[in-house]
Amino acid sequence: MATEITTPTKLIYMTDSYIQAMPATVVAVIHDGEPKVDGTRSVSVILDQTLFYAQGGGQPADQGEISGPHGKVAVSHVSYNGGAILHKGSLEGQVAVGEKVSLHIHWPLRYKHMQLHTAGHIVDQAVKNILPGSKSIDGNHGIGKKLSITFSTAIPETALPAIQKEVNKIITEAGPITFEMLTKDEIISRSIAIPFDLPSNKPLRILQLHHYPPMPDGGTHLHTTDESWPITITGVKTDAGNTLILYQVQEPIPSSSTVAAARLSLVELKKKVAEILAAAHQDLATPEELKTTYLGKKGRFNDLAQMLRQLTPQDRKAAGMILNELKTQLEQLITERANKASDISGKWVDLSAPGQLPRLGHMHPVSQAMEQITQIFEHIGFTRVRYPEVDWDHYVFEALNMPSNHPARDEWETFFIDAPIDKKFGKVVLTAHTSNGQVREMERLNSTPPIRMINIARCYRRQQDATHTQMFHQFEGLVVDKGITIQHLKGTLDYFAQEFYGPGTKSRIRPFHFQFTEPSFEVDFSCHICKGTGQVDGKDEEGKPAKVKCKFCKSGWHEVGGAGMVHPNVLKAGGIDANQYTGFAFGWGIERTYTLKPGLNIDDIRLLYSGEMKFLEQF
Ligand code: FA5
Repeated sequence: MATEITTPTKLIYMTDSYIQAMPATVVAVIHDGEPKVDGTRSVSVILDQTLFYAQGGGQPADQGEISGPHGKVAVSHVSYNGGAILHKGSLEGQVAVGEKVSLHIHWPLRYKHMQLHTAGHIVDQAVKNILPGSKSIDGNHGIGKKLSITFSTAIPETALPAIQKEVNKIITEAGPITFEMLTKDEIISRSIAIPFDLPSNKPLRILQLHHYPPMPDGGTHLHTTDESWPITITGVKTDAGNTLILYQVQEPIPSSSTVAAARLSLVELKKKVAEILAAAHQDLATPEELKTTYLGKKGRFNDLAQMLRQLTPQDRKAAGMILNELKTQLEQLITERANKASDISGKWVDLSAPGQLPRLGHMHPVSQAMEQITQIFEHIGFTRVRYPEVDWDHYVFEALNMPSNHPARDEWETFFIDAPIDKKFGKVVLTAHTSNGQVREMERLNSTPPIRMINIARCYRRQQDATHTQMFHQFEGLVVDKGITIQHLKGTLDYFAQEFYGPGTKSRIRPFHFQFTEPSFEVDFSCHICKGTGQVDGKDEEGKPAKVKCKFCKSGWHEVGGAGMVHPNVLKAGGIDANQYTGFAFGWGIERTYTLKPGLNIDDIRLLYSGEMKFLEQF
């Protein structure tokens, strides 16, 4: 079991993208390797709450600094790990669990990411206004070089001028951009379109541009559409059946007129002042830490004072008074705290500080995959079952149309148990596949379809290399009813591919042979890197841009397991009338299915069982 914190980090930026600094408490510090020559160390820090945006949804991660009383972390990347956010970077000095720290994000970078992300939504809305019925499924707002919105529907190049005009119109409309935190059920009950899989590890939020239909989104965004820098639609591109609208965002050159046009109103300033005061009152840090966080050089007060430039000259006098009042209140609060909280020796103690949390584990990646696979099939009416992993030869082979001495048995490289042979059920074996569950499930349901089972269990084979382990897991689907055809099988495979690997993933079946299915197939899923084409953009031998073979799949497809229509002899063995009922079955390795997920890059499945914490902690 890997040691990992799964307590979710509170995501402060979800409700206000404009907060640049705030306090937090350290929940975990994970050291990555030994200290470097200059004394710094690579670490991942987990906090109770954060301002840092973790890379995702097409938006890059924030950068910035976490500073504590005895050290600081220069944060260079931020990512999700379950519900917890990992702040990765270089530690100078010490940062310890339970300590109060101050967070500062690199604001110019974040503000640029907000511009790029909001621009993506403006482009998306413009396309939908011009071509109603357009469906967007993905967006890149700065992770790759080219900014784009991906549509599963076609967009002719001739529509680009109208889309550009519409983009400009949405910007000048100056509509508000608002957020609302919702549960998945609320999103569904309000009939809000869900263009992609909703994440299960973060709180859910919807974003609404002006009066346009809301959509799920977890990024950081501008206050109003007219805060957007100018957006230019630069082209349209087709890729694996989808259409990409490419766009660029141009940072205006600051001039006295743009500074004058910047929109910080007194109302917004007062709102920010109230936020800072509320945060300071809730902040249980030591008086010294409070001073650094709120009144220090890079503190929240100074950050706000910098924004005075954005006000009109008429408003600045009133704003100065508001800021003076804020400073006085912060100073008073810090003095009060310093007077109140001291122990008998006069040293300041924070009685409400949380204790040191023990290191927590998290689910093994294979268990995570099992949970996800179970949920995916339960959504379409399958029942999760689990059958013996040490079973009779009868269920593993005989009832599956493989009588003793049949040569097809050789393929399974089976381990046999040294146990008495049963007259009816034969030898005892370690199950070589989960297909032993097929006839067992028919018997459990008294040979009475409908059957919709998903059997997940360990399997054992005498095999060991980068793609095989002696113990592995399979999941077996079995559906039996009247009128079940290959189309039902193919539809189920496509559904699973999209749910597990993400929108756009396709399945493919190729003829094969299994004794227990007829016809039988091998099942492939399209590669997420090359989108099933087998080719990616690269360079030829002379270094010129060219299409090159996808290294991940080599062919555009990955094989995951077998499938087929249940053989009549298997239905008979389970007591089902093969003249009335038909069925399909499939069986895939969980390890193989999981390691093909986008972004995992696991090229040896034995690592999953190596007990290597450094490897396991990543998932
Ligand atoms: C079977 O096991 C069939 N029972 C699948 C099936 C079920 C076909 C229902 C038709 C109907 P196969 O031997 O190809 O098929 O194994 C299926 C998958 O299990 C493989 O593609 C691979 O993903 C996984 N697998 C097999 N052996 C190992 C191993 N030693 N280590 C890890 N994964 C394995």
